[in-house]
Amino acid sequence: MRFRPRCDQRANCGVLFFVFLVPSTVVNFLWYASSNVSPNARKPLPSAILWQTSVDAYNMSLLNEVTDFTTLVDKTDFRFLINNRRCDDAQDIFLVIFIHSAPDHFQKRRAIRKTWGQERHLVDDPLRIVFMVGEVQGRDDVQKALERENYIHRDMVQGNFLDTYKNLTYKHVMGLKWVTYFCRQAKYIFKTDDDIFVDIFQLVTYLKGSSGLAPPRGLIMCFLIRNPYVKRSQRSKWRVSFKEYPGKYYPPYCAGWGIIMSPDVVFNLYLQSTQVPYFWVDDVHVSGTLAQRAGVNHVDFTNKLSVTEEEIFEWLQSPKLSRPYLFGHPDAEVDTIYALWNKTYWYYKRTGSRR
Ligand SMILES: *[C@@H]1O[C@H](CO)[C@@H](O)[C@H](O)[C@H]1NC(C)=O
Ligand SMILES: *[C@@H]1O[C@H](CO)[C@@H](O)[C@H](O)[C@H]1NC(C)=O
Ligand SMILES: *[C@@H]1O[C@H](CO)[C@@H](O)[C@H](O)[C@H]1NC(C)=O
Repeated sequence: MRFRPRCDQRANCGVLFFVFLVPSTVVNFLWYASSNVSPNARKPLPSAILWQTSVDAYNMSLLNEVTDFTTLVDKTDFRFLINNRRCDDAQDIFLVIFIHSAPDHFQKRRAIRKTWGQERHLVDDPLRIVFMVGEVQGRDDVQKALERENYIHRDMVQGNFLDTYKNLTYKHVMGLKWVTYFCRQAKYIFKTDDDIFVDIFQLVTYLKGSSGLAPPRGLIMCFLIRNPYVKRSQRSKWRVSFKEYPGKYYPPYCAGWGIIMSPDVVFNLYLQSTQVPYFWVDDVHVSGTLAQRAGVNHVDFTNKLSVTEEEIFEWLQSPKLSRPYLFGHPDAEVDTIYALWNKTYWYYKRTGSRR
């Protein structure tokens, strides 16, 4: 497209308008498209390049170069069935978010991609989002649809363990592994679930404000659950037997819908993950047991949030355009996520602020 320096006719003005407006979209698109490049997506193998590290938080020589890539907790035949190296195109990534999802949660992922998970909203502070899923059993149609979805969005990571709730610890550790291997340059790592709303603008502002220019270290920030009893009730889906976990209490651990970590914490949790026997309550295992072993202290952000359903709906229904909550409540319906985003978007658009 040729640039026209003058605008003496309506038609030319139109062209000028086009020239000035479109390129940012095109640039965004190219940037977006390039972030989707995923050479060798199905089977990335460890290589010298994978082992190089420019980030001191990840001391890759502490991992076994031969066996680590195919190890996941106690599983020694691990591999990625789907993988995307979304971070390869950028030197500086501000935030990488890995989202626990399930293979057939197509609508939930769609809602996130269309709302708060749009990476292009944060070009100044590059953001990458990936969805973590396990293997589908006996549902070829679901797997096919998943592959089609991934072909379009290139943001799925699938591991070769069955996608069941007793296998959630594999999923969680796969997230840590993926970051360790494929997104070491990210300054912050955020783990969440696919039924959560996040005010992504506020989150980035908040993180920038809390760490300043210094790289964060030793950070694990979440909605902290202190001195929790181990659930023994026969009726609970989360019932844990004495054989699975003999103690009466768990160590303090994070609610899994929002865990913010610094790179060194991700790496230390990942290092610990092969040292401790598998336990299936993933939040307890990863953000409790492994965190305790790694010697990291939690920062509780409970007082910074309001996450009850009532408060969220009150905010949504109020005719006033007020500052959104940082997170929407867990178990949000897809419609709630769209509505929250709509109001959040308008809030920032109107006020012109990102605080
Ligand atoms: C990484 O670990 C190796 C092996 O323990 C150690 O020799 C080396 O000093 C560590 N490097 C850094 C930068 O901490
Ligand atoms: C977890 O996944 C493995 C495959 O890696 C499978 O054999 C096992 O049955 C799954 N466990 C549960 C409880 O679903
Ligand atoms: C989105 O927000 C605007 C402004 O608050 C409102 O007028 C509109 O009805 C909302 N749309 C939906 C689909 O919620």
